[in-house]
Amino acid sequence: MLVNLWTVSALLAAVSASPLSKRATPIRNGFYPLDVVDKLEESTMPKVQAWLATKNNTCTLENAAVRREWSDLSVPEREDYIKAVLCLQSKPPKVPSSTAPGAKSRFDDFVAFHMTQAMMLHDTTHLFASHRYFIWAYEKALREECGYQGYQPYMNYDRYAQDPINSPMFNGNASSMGGNGAPTKYRGIIMPFKKPYDMIKSAGGGGCVTTGPFKDMVVSLGPKSTVVDNVPRNPRSDGMGANPRCLRRDVNKNSALGATANYTYSLIMDNKDIDSFYNRYLGQPPLKNDNHPWGLHNAGHYIIGGDPGGVCIFPLASTTCTVTRC
Ligand SMILES: *[C@@H]1O[C@H](CO)[C@@H](O)[C@H](O)[C@H]1NC(C)=O
Ligand SMILES: *[C@@H]1O[C@H](CO)[C@@H](O)[C@H](O)[C@H]1NC(C)=O
Ligand SMILES: *[C@@H]1O[C@H](CO)[C@@H](O)[C@H](O)[C@H]1NC(C)=O
Repeated sequence: MLVNLWTVSALLAAVSASPLSKRATPIRNGFYPLDVVDKLEESTMPKVQAWLATKNNTCTLENAAVRREWSDLSVPEREDYIKAVLCLQSKPPKVPSSTAPGAKSRFDDFVAFHMTQAMMLHDTTHLFASHRYFIWAYEKALREECGYQGYQPYMNYDRYAQDPINSPMFNGNASSMGGNGAPTKYRGIIMPFKKPYDMIKSAGGGGCVTTGPFKDMVVSLGPKSTVVDNVPRNPRSDGMGANPRCLRRDVNKNSALGATANYTYSLIMDNKDIDSFYNRYLGQPPLKNDNHPWGLHNAGHYIIGGDPGGVCIFPLASTTCTVTRC
Protein backbone atom coordinates (compact mmCIF):
# COMPACT_ATOMS: atom_id res chain seq x y z
CA MET A 1 0.00 0.00 0.00
CA LEU A 2 0.91 3.13 -0.68
CA VAL A 3 3.83 2.59 0.87
CA ASN A 4 5.24 5.34 2.75
CA LEU A 5 2.45 7.72 2.61
CA TRP A 6 0.35 5.52 4.80
CA THR A 7 2.91 5.62 7.49
CA VAL A 8 2.24 9.28 7.61
CA SER A 9 -1.33 8.60 8.34
CA ALA A 10 -0.23 6.20 11.01
CA LEU A 11 1.03 9.20 12.83
CA LEU A 12 -2.28 10.21 14.20
CA ALA A 13 -1.15 13.08 16.12
CA ALA A 14 -1.83 16.50 17.14
CA VAL A 15 0.95 18.76 17.04
CA SER A 16 3.35 20.67 18.93
CA ALA A 17 5.32 23.47 17.46
CA SER A 18 7.36 23.13 14.34
CA PRO A 19 9.93 22.13 13.37
CA LEU A 20 8.89 18.52 13.09
CA SER A 21 9.73 16.54 16.16
CA LYS A 22 12.60 14.08 16.03
CA ARG A 23 10.17 11.37 17.03
CA ALA A 24 8.24 11.72 13.79
CA THR A 25 11.33 11.61 11.61
CA PRO A 26 12.02 7.98 10.84
CA ILE A 27 15.48 6.56 11.37
CA ARG A 28 16.67 5.59 7.90
CA ASN A 29 19.06 2.95 6.68
CA GLY A 30 21.68 4.93 4.75
CA PHE A 31 22.07 2.09 2.27
CA TYR A 32 18.79 3.13 0.63
CA PRO A 33 18.60 6.67 -0.71
CA LEU A 34 15.21 8.32 -0.34
CA ASP A 35 12.98 7.50 -3.29
CA VAL A 36 10.33 9.79 -4.80
CA VAL A 37 7.66 8.55 -2.40
CA ASP A 38 9.94 8.93 0.63
CA LYS A 39 10.55 12.49 -0.48
CA LEU A 40 6.85 13.08 -0.99
CA GLU A 41 6.25 11.80 2.53
CA GLU A 42 8.86 14.13 3.97
CA SER A 43 7.48 17.11 2.12
CA THR A 44 3.97 16.25 3.31
CA MET A 45 4.79 15.99 7.00
CA PRO A 46 4.50 19.71 7.73
CA LYS A 47 0.98 19.57 6.29
CA VAL A 48 0.20 16.59 8.51
CA GLN A 49 1.50 18.56 11.42
CA ALA A 50 -0.62 21.60 10.56
CA TRP A 51 -3.70 19.41 10.10
CA LEU A 52 -3.14 17.74 13.43
CA ALA A 53 -2.98 21.12 15.08
CA THR A 54 -6.61 21.62 14.13
CA LYS A 55 -7.62 18.48 16.04
CA ASN A 56 -8.62 18.41 19.65
CA ASN A 57 -7.03 15.29 21.09
CA THR A 58 -4.10 14.17 23.13
CA CYS A 59 -2.03 12.61 20.38
CA THR A 60 1.09 14.42 19.37
CA LEU A 61 3.93 13.70 16.99
CA GLU A 62 5.95 13.02 20.13
CA ASN A 63 3.70 10.27 21.42
CA ALA A 64 2.50 8.80 18.12
CA ALA A 65 3.63 5.32 17.15
CA VAL A 66 6.00 5.24 14.19
CA ARG A 67 5.89 2.30 11.80
CA ARG A 68 9.24 1.77 10.13
CA GLU A 69 10.53 0.17 6.97
CA TRP A 70 11.99 -3.32 7.38
CA SER A 71 15.57 -2.33 6.53
CA ASP A 72 15.35 0.74 8.72
CA LEU A 73 14.99 -1.60 11.71
CA SER A 74 18.21 -2.85 13.25
CA VAL A 75 18.87 -6.59 12.92
CA PRO A 76 17.90 -7.20 16.59
CA GLU A 77 14.67 -5.22 16.02
CA ARG A 78 13.86 -7.41 12.99
CA GLU A 79 14.49 -10.48 15.12
CA ASP A 80 12.17 -9.15 17.85
CA TYR A 81 9.41 -8.76 15.31
CA ILE A 82 9.96 -12.29 13.94
CA LYS A 83 9.93 -13.67 17.49
CA ALA A 84 6.58 -12.01 18.13
CA VAL A 85 5.07 -13.42 14.92
CA LEU A 86 6.31 -16.91 15.85
CA CYS A 87 4.79 -16.38 19.31
CA LEU A 88 1.40 -15.51 17.80
CA GLN A 89 1.69 -18.65 15.69
CA SER A 90 2.21 -20.70 18.86
CA LYS A 91 -0.80 -19.37 20.82
CA PRO A 92 -4.24 -20.96 20.60
CA PRO A 93 -6.84 -19.39 18.31
CA LYS A 94 -9.82 -17.43 19.61
CA VAL A 95 -12.06 -17.95 16.61
CA PRO A 96 -14.75 -20.56 17.48
CA SER A 97 -13.89 -23.97 16.10
CA SER A 98 -17.39 -24.16 14.65
CA THR A 99 -16.47 -21.24 12.38
CA ALA A 100 -12.89 -22.14 11.55
CA PRO A 101 -11.97 -25.66 12.70
CA GLY A 102 -8.78 -25.31 10.66
CA ALA A 103 -7.50 -22.31 12.65
CA LYS A 104 -4.64 -23.65 14.72
CA SER A 105 -3.17 -20.50 16.20
CA ARG A 106 -3.87 -16.93 17.15
CA PHE A 107 -2.11 -15.96 13.92
CA ASP A 108 -4.67 -18.04 12.04
CA ASP A 109 -7.45 -15.90 13.55
CA PHE A 110 -6.20 -13.07 11.38
CA VAL A 111 -5.94 -15.32 8.34
CA ALA A 112 -9.50 -16.56 8.91
CA PHE A 113 -10.84 -13.04 9.31
CA HIS A 114 -9.14 -11.86 6.15
CA MET A 115 -10.65 -14.83 4.30
CA THR A 116 -14.21 -14.54 5.59
CA GLN A 117 -14.35 -10.75 5.27
CA ALA A 118 -12.47 -10.61 1.99
CA MET A 119 -15.27 -8.98 0.00
CA MET A 120 -15.95 -6.31 2.58
CA LEU A 121 -12.26 -5.68 3.15
CA HIS A 122 -11.53 -5.07 -0.50
CA ASP A 123 -14.29 -2.93 -1.95
CA THR A 124 -13.53 0.55 -3.17
CA THR A 125 -14.34 2.59 -0.16
CA HIS A 126 -13.24 0.13 2.51
CA LEU A 127 -9.94 -1.17 1.20
CA PHE A 128 -7.49 1.21 2.77
CA ALA A 129 -9.29 2.08 5.98
CA SER A 130 -10.21 -1.53 6.75
CA HIS A 131 -6.71 -2.82 6.11
CA ARG A 132 -5.26 -0.17 8.35
CA TYR A 133 -7.66 -1.25 11.07
CA PHE A 134 -6.77 -4.89 10.43
CA ILE A 135 -3.03 -4.18 10.67
CA TRP A 136 -3.63 -2.16 13.83
CA ALA A 137 -5.42 -5.13 15.41
CA TYR A 138 -2.60 -7.46 14.37
CA GLU A 139 0.02 -5.08 15.76
CA LYS A 140 -1.95 -4.85 19.01
CA ALA A 141 -1.98 -8.65 19.32
CA LEU A 142 1.79 -8.80 18.75
CA ARG A 143 2.33 -6.17 21.41
CA GLU A 144 -0.21 -7.20 24.03
CA GLU A 145 -0.18 -10.97 23.62
CA CYS A 146 3.44 -11.52 22.63
CA GLY A 147 5.32 -8.75 24.37
CA TYR A 148 6.51 -7.06 21.20
CA GLN A 149 7.82 -3.59 21.95
CA GLY A 150 7.99 -2.22 18.42
CA TYR A 151 5.34 -1.42 15.85
CA GLN A 152 4.31 -3.21 12.68
CA PRO A 153 7.06 -2.75 10.11
CA TYR A 154 6.22 -2.04 6.50
CA MET A 155 7.89 -2.93 3.21
CA ASN A 156 9.00 -0.31 0.73
CA TYR A 157 8.77 -2.44 -2.40
CA ASP A 158 11.13 -0.16 -4.27
CA ARG A 159 14.07 -1.07 -2.06
CA TYR A 160 13.97 -4.72 -3.06
CA ALA A 161 12.39 -4.71 -6.51
CA GLN A 162 15.61 -5.25 -8.45
CA ASP A 163 16.70 -8.28 -6.42
CA PRO A 164 14.05 -9.41 -3.94
CA ILE A 165 15.53 -12.87 -3.41
CA ASN A 166 18.76 -11.44 -2.03
CA SER A 167 17.08 -8.67 -0.03
CA PRO A 168 17.16 -8.33 3.77
CA MET A 169 13.52 -9.31 3.71
CA PHE A 170 13.69 -12.56 1.72
CA ASN A 171 17.33 -13.70 1.78
CA GLY A 172 16.35 -16.55 4.10
CA ASN A 173 18.65 -15.70 6.98
CA ALA A 174 17.59 -15.47 10.63
CA SER A 175 16.61 -11.80 10.43
CA SER A 176 14.61 -12.12 7.21
CA MET A 177 10.94 -12.95 6.75
CA GLY A 178 12.08 -16.26 5.26
CA GLY A 179 13.59 -17.27 1.96
CA ASN A 180 12.24 -18.21 -1.43
CA GLY A 181 10.26 -21.37 -2.13
CA ALA A 182 12.03 -24.39 -3.63
CA PRO A 183 12.10 -24.51 -7.44
CA THR A 184 8.93 -25.86 -8.97
CA LYS A 185 7.24 -25.76 -12.34
CA TYR A 186 4.35 -23.40 -12.68
CA ARG A 187 3.75 -20.87 -15.38
CA GLY A 188 2.98 -17.81 -13.40
CA ILE A 189 0.06 -15.75 -12.25
CA ILE A 190 -2.78 -15.07 -14.65
CA MET A 191 -3.58 -11.39 -15.09
CA PRO A 192 -6.69 -9.86 -16.65
CA PHE A 193 -4.71 -8.02 -19.33
CA LYS A 194 -4.02 -8.52 -23.03
CA LYS A 195 -1.07 -10.61 -24.16
CA PRO A 196 1.80 -10.49 -23.44
CA TYR A 197 0.70 -9.02 -20.12
CA ASP A 198 -1.78 -11.77 -19.34
CA MET A 199 0.67 -13.37 -16.94
CA ILE A 200 3.23 -12.45 -14.31
CA LYS A 201 5.80 -15.07 -15.25
CA SER A 202 7.04 -17.49 -12.64
CA ALA A 203 10.38 -16.48 -11.15
CA GLY A 204 11.35 -20.12 -10.59
CA GLY A 205 10.24 -20.73 -6.99
CA GLY A 206 6.76 -21.75 -5.89
CA GLY A 207 7.66 -24.74 -3.69
CA CYS A 208 8.01 -24.95 0.07
CA VAL A 209 10.01 -22.30 1.91
CA THR A 210 13.07 -24.09 3.29
CA THR A 211 15.12 -21.31 4.85
CA GLY A 212 14.62 -18.69 7.51
CA PRO A 213 12.39 -18.34 10.57
CA PHE A 214 9.19 -19.54 8.85
CA LYS A 215 10.55 -22.68 7.19
CA ASP A 216 8.64 -24.89 9.63
CA MET A 217 5.44 -22.86 9.50
CA VAL A 218 2.34 -25.00 9.08
CA VAL A 219 -0.30 -23.35 6.93
CA SER A 220 -3.69 -24.80 7.80
CA LEU A 221 -6.55 -22.68 6.43
CA GLY A 222 -7.41 -22.53 2.74
CA PRO A 223 -6.65 -22.43 -0.03
CA LYS A 224 -9.76 -20.99 -1.60
CA SER A 225 -7.79 -20.57 -4.78
CA THR A 226 -4.13 -20.97 -5.51
CA VAL A 227 -1.56 -19.79 -7.99
CA VAL A 228 0.84 -22.74 -7.68
CA ASP A 229 0.25 -26.41 -8.37
CA ASN A 230 0.14 -29.36 -6.03
CA VAL A 231 -1.56 -27.63 -3.12
CA PRO A 232 -3.95 -30.01 -1.37
CA ARG A 233 -7.61 -29.01 -1.30
CA ASN A 234 -9.27 -27.79 1.83
CA PRO A 235 -11.88 -30.22 3.20
CA ARG A 236 -14.42 -27.36 3.44
CA SER A 237 -15.68 -25.30 0.53
CA ASP A 238 -15.24 -22.10 2.56
CA GLY A 239 -11.57 -22.96 3.15
CA MET A 240 -11.98 -22.96 6.94
CA GLY A 241 -11.07 -26.61 7.46
CA ALA A 242 -7.70 -27.98 8.56
CA ASN A 243 -5.38 -28.50 5.61
CA PRO A 244 -1.89 -28.65 7.10
CA ARG A 245 0.84 -27.97 4.56
CA CYS A 246 4.03 -26.02 4.03
CA LEU A 247 4.32 -22.32 3.26
CA ARG A 248 4.96 -21.93 -0.48
CA ARG A 249 6.44 -18.90 -2.19
CA ASP A 250 7.78 -17.58 -5.41
CA VAL A 251 9.74 -14.45 -4.54
CA ASN A 252 9.09 -12.75 -7.83
CA LYS A 253 11.03 -9.91 -9.39
CA ASN A 254 8.67 -9.83 -12.40
CA SER A 255 5.95 -8.79 -10.02
CA ALA A 256 8.08 -6.47 -7.89
CA LEU A 257 9.10 -4.39 -10.90
CA GLY A 258 5.50 -3.21 -11.14
CA ALA A 259 5.75 -1.82 -7.61
CA THR A 260 8.70 0.53 -7.84
CA ALA A 261 8.34 3.97 -6.28
CA ASN A 262 7.47 5.74 -9.52
CA TYR A 263 4.25 3.68 -9.78
CA THR A 264 3.29 4.61 -6.24
CA TYR A 265 4.14 8.24 -6.82
CA SER A 266 2.03 8.34 -9.96
CA LEU A 267 -0.82 6.54 -8.21
CA ILE A 268 -0.90 9.17 -5.48
CA MET A 269 -0.29 12.24 -7.59
CA ASP A 270 -2.11 11.49 -10.86
CA ASN A 271 -5.50 10.37 -9.56
CA LYS A 272 -7.80 13.04 -8.32
CA ASP A 273 -10.69 10.94 -7.05
CA ILE A 274 -11.04 7.69 -5.11
CA ASP A 275 -12.50 5.80 -8.05
CA SER A 276 -9.60 6.42 -10.43
CA PHE A 277 -7.14 5.95 -7.57
CA TYR A 278 -8.64 2.58 -6.69
CA ASN A 279 -8.80 1.42 -10.30
CA ARG A 280 -5.19 2.40 -10.96
CA TYR A 281 -4.23 0.59 -7.77
CA LEU A 282 -5.84 -2.52 -9.23
CA GLY A 283 -4.19 -1.99 -12.62
CA GLN A 284 -7.23 -0.71 -14.53
CA PRO A 285 -7.45 0.49 -17.20
CA PRO A 286 -4.32 -1.37 -18.33
CA LEU A 287 -1.26 0.83 -18.80
CA LYS A 288 -0.05 0.93 -22.38
CA ASN A 289 3.59 0.39 -23.32
CA ASP A 290 4.51 -0.66 -19.82
CA ASN A 291 6.28 -3.94 -19.15
CA HIS A 292 4.96 -4.33 -15.62
CA PRO A 293 1.42 -2.96 -15.73
CA TRP A 294 0.09 -5.11 -12.88
CA GLY A 295 -1.13 -2.34 -10.64
CA LEU A 296 0.38 -1.92 -7.19
CA HIS A 297 -2.08 -4.24 -5.53
CA ASN A 298 -1.19 -7.23 -7.70
CA ALA A 299 2.46 -6.29 -7.94
CA GLY A 300 2.80 -6.14 -4.17
CA HIS A 301 0.89 -9.34 -3.50
CA TYR A 302 2.76 -11.48 -5.97
CA ILE A 303 6.21 -10.45 -4.83
CA ILE A 304 5.62 -13.50 -2.64
CA GLY A 305 2.98 -15.26 -4.70
CA GLY A 306 2.56 -18.90 -3.72
CA ASP A 307 0.35 -20.47 -1.12
CA PRO A 308 -1.47 -18.99 0.70
CA GLY A 309 -2.38 -17.48 -2.64
CA GLY A 310 -0.26 -14.44 -2.71
CA VAL A 311 -2.15 -12.72 0.00
CA CYS A 312 0.47 -11.30 1.98
CA ILE A 313 -0.27 -9.53 4.81
CA PHE A 314 1.78 -8.67 7.36
CA PRO A 315 4.13 -6.50 6.84
CA LEU A 316 4.03 -4.54 5.09
CA ALA A 317 1.17 -2.89 5.22
CA SER A 318 2.87 -0.72 3.21
CA THR A 319 1.35 -0.61 1.13
CA THR A 320 -0.60 -3.22 1.87
CA CYS A 321 1.12 -6.09 2.43
CA THR A 322 3.74 -7.32 4.13
CA VAL A 323 5.68 -9.90 5.30
CA THR A 324 3.99 -13.03 6.06
CA ARG A 325 0.83 -13.90 4.56
CA CYS A 326 -2.53 -14.90 5.35
C1 LIG B 1 -11.64 19.43 23.33
O1 LIG B 1 -11.83 18.17 23.99
C2 LIG B 1 -12.15 18.29 25.38
C3 LIG B 1 -12.13 16.88 25.98
O2 LIG B 1 -12.90 16.00 25.20
C4 LIG B 1 -13.51 19.01 25.51
O3 LIG B 1 -13.82 19.16 26.90
C5 LIG B 1 -13.38 20.38 24.85
O4 LIG B 1 -14.66 21.03 24.90
C6 LIG B 1 -12.93 20.25 23.41
N1 LIG B 1 -12.68 21.58 22.84
C7 LIG B 1 -13.11 21.93 21.62
C8 LIG B 1 -12.76 23.32 21.16
O5 LIG B 1 -13.79 21.19 20.92
C1 LIG C 1 20.98 -11.31 7.33
O1 LIG C 1 20.86 -10.39 6.28
C2 LIG C 1 20.87 -9.03 6.69
C3 LIG C 1 20.60 -8.19 5.45
O2 LIG C 1 21.52 -8.43 4.45
C4 LIG C 1 22.19 -8.69 7.36
O3 LIG C 1 22.17 -7.34 7.82
C5 LIG C 1 22.38 -9.61 8.54
O4 LIG C 1 23.63 -9.37 9.13
C6 LIG C 1 22.30 -11.06 8.07
N1 LIG C 1 22.39 -11.92 9.24
C7 LIG C 1 23.24 -12.95 9.29
C8 LIG C 1 23.20 -13.76 10.54
O5 LIG C 1 23.99 -13.20 8.36
C1 LIG D 1 8.44 3.36 -13.72
O1 LIG D 1 9.77 3.19 -14.15
C2 LIG D 1 9.96 2.06 -15.02
C3 LIG D 1 11.46 1.90 -15.25
O2 LIG D 1 12.00 3.08 -15.71
C4 LIG D 1 9.16 2.30 -16.30
O3 LIG D 1 9.31 1.22 -17.18
C5 LIG D 1 7.69 2.45 -15.93
O4 LIG D 1 6.92 2.74 -17.08
C6 LIG D 1 7.52 3.58 -14.92
N1 LIG D 1 6.11 3.60 -14.48
C7 LIG D 1 5.43 4.74 -14.33
C8 LIG D 1 4.01 4.62 -13.87
O5 LIG D 1 5.92 5.83 -14.54
